[in-house]
Order: sequence, then structure tokens, then C-alpha cells
Amino acid sequence: EMLEKGGYDHFMLKEIYEQPRSIRDCLRGRIDPEQGIVTLGGIKEYIEKLKNIDRIIIVACGTSWHAGLVGEYLIEEYARVSVEVEYASEFRYRNPIISSKDLVIAISQSGETADTMAAIELAKEKGATIFGICNVVGASIPRITHAGVYTHAGPEIGVASTKAFTAQVTVLTLIAFYIAQQRGTITQSKFVEYLTELDEIPALVEQTLKCNDVVKAIAERFKDSANCLFLGRGSSFPVALEGALKLKEISYIHAEGYPAAEMKHGPIALIDADMPVVFIATKNSSYEKVISNIQEVKARGGHVIAIVSEGDTDVKEMADYTIEIPLTGETFVPLLATIPLQLLSYHIAVMRGCNVDQPRNLAKSVTVE
Ligand code: G6P
Repeated sequence: EMLEKGGYDHFMLKEIYEQPRSIRDCLRGRIDPEQGIVTLGGIKEYIEKLKNIDRIIIVACGTSWHAGLVGEYLIEEYARVSVEVEYASEFRYRNPIISSKDLVIAISQSGETADTMAAIELAKEKGATIFGICNVVGASIPRITHAGVYTHAGPEIGVASTKAFTAQVTVLTLIAFYIAQQRGTITQSKFVEYLTELDEIPALVEQTLKCNDVVKAIAERFKDSANCLFLGRGSSFPVALEGALKLKEISYIHAEGYPAAEMKHGPIALIDADMPVVFIATKNSSYEKVISNIQEVKARGGHVIAIVSEGDTDVKEMADYTIEIPLTGETFVPLLATIPLQLLSYHIAVMRGCNVDQPRNLAKSVTVE
């Protein structure tokens, strides 16, 4: 087993460190930055369909649902198609309004999740086209969907999903660009620019992983907390949800993710010196707004841990702890900002003596309802 872990203490840590490679594998052969072209062989027969779809519904569970939420931002931004993201378990039981003009995208690492499979069968009966985004090649979901795109992240052993999530987000980015390409919603020069940036992401993830020592020191400081709040705006909101999920899954600390602006409608009541608040406060369009949210937390005696862009000075003055990540286009921030949150939950869980790879009561793949 030590061999399988490749010298790492846990599969989860190994899988976190594999992300530069898994994202590169996911992009391989699919983007041509110089020409500004995305190629997705698995869905190419649906090009005509993609030109005319009215709506996309994403169905998934757990971490895959969080990837879907990031996908909603990406697809709406680039392809200008309206997207809804649904928990598969809810979707399947509420007689959803769905037609042959809809595209359903099912996301699943394992390709075996019972609720996601049932949601697919239902949408199929109603005549929708179904794409799958799966990691396990040849699993059940790729077999029951019409077409799909594999994430190619390689086997994921740790129950808490890490590299599969970033690969799912990468695939959703590709799908957003692919649909945009068919619908002509992005200029060719923008395509070249975006794909050049996307191509650099594996190297930037590699650079991001260097935050490990800083994150470990922060974990030491907050490992005994009973609660933790994660806040972000825009596509960093689902990153906050995923950060909270990772922490509760493996360290059993109660954690919640919230859109930063919603804080004033509830979570702010909980803020005190015992409640660490993790902000995703990178330099992008909501930067100034997030800064005022940080000030609100500080004014109430909260401890702030902020993920910031390299070279940031403003947030550094206010936050108690900062973790720097490389600068990248706004769209790609989730791929980088997720990394320190994975490491934070990992170190906290190890320090608390938890079984990181096999947390209590959780299964890697939930094949029952
Ligand atoms: C379980 C796993 C999670 C995963 C979820 C959905 O809860 O512990 O890590 O995100 O199932 O699984 P899927 O294989 O469909 O992505």
C-alpha cells in the first residue's frame, strides 16, 4: 500500500499533488491554444444540437454538484446558455419540466451514483439529450448517456474527492468553450487568449501547491475549532462550498460555505473569536466587495484566513492569515483556489487523528438511494 501511495502518507495527499498532471491529462489533445480551437471527440456528433439548445440542466451529487455550480458560471458566461444545477436526488422526484430541447449534463466521478443514474433515466424518458462527465472509464453512467467527456484524472482512492473535482471543472471549462465555439459567442482572438491561459493552469497548480507549509501552519492554529465558515463570490462561491464540504468530510468540524454577500443574512450572527472565516479574496471583479465582507468579519472579532492573489497588499493588511495563489484569469480561479482548501482540510484532519482516506460513515461511491 505504501507503494501505491507513491511515498505520500495518504492517498488524499497523493491525489492533491497529482493535480498538475491530472489537469494536463484532461486537457491533452483537446485544446489548440494557437488556433483557438477546442476539440471534444465524445460530443462532436451533437454540434448541431448544441447550436440550438434552450437550456442546460446539470445533475450531480456531492463534490460533483459543486463542480456543476462552477460549470454554471462558465457556461453562462461563455456560451450564453441558461444553466440550472440540480441535486440528482431532488431532481428525480419532483416531476421536472424537461423537453427534447434541453441538454442534461450528468457529472459523476465514479459513474455509479444511484441518484445520478435515476436522474439520467428520467431525463432520457422525457426526450432530453444527456451528456456524462465521468472519471471511471466504462462505468454505468457513460454507458447510459448519449455522449460524454471523460475527466481522465486517473483512479481516485481517497473518499474525499480532490483531483476528480478539478478535472470536472476543467472539463466543464472545455464544454463551455466548445458550446461557445458552436454558437459564436466568443471572438476568435478571445479564444486564443483564454486557451493560452487554460494551457498554463497545470503549471500554476504546481506553483499553488507550494503553499503547503503556510497552509500547514494555519491548520495547526485552527485544528481545534468546532466550526468554520467559508465565503466566496461568483465562481468562488462553489469553491467555498467545496472547501466546507472537504473540512466536514474528513475532519468532522462543522463547516458551512456561503456566498460572501449572504453572510449578513444569517452567518454573521455566529461570528466571534472562535469561528475562523476562510475567504476566497483573489483579485477579480468582486475583489472590492469581498474586502468589505472581510472588514465586517474583522469588526466582529472574527479570525480571517484569506486566499489572495500573489502580490496582494490590501487583504494582507486586514486578514489574520493569507495564502497566496498565482494570478490567473477570473474564470480559472476555482482551479487554483481549491488547492489550498484541500490542503487545509487534509492537515487539520491528520492533526486531529482522523482517518483521512476513509472517513467514518462515508462511501466513495453511493450506489444505493
Ligand atoms: C460520495 C463521495 C463524494 C462524491 C459523491 C458523488 O458522497 O464520498 O466524494 O462527490 O459521492 O459521487 P460521484 O461518483 O457521483 O461523483
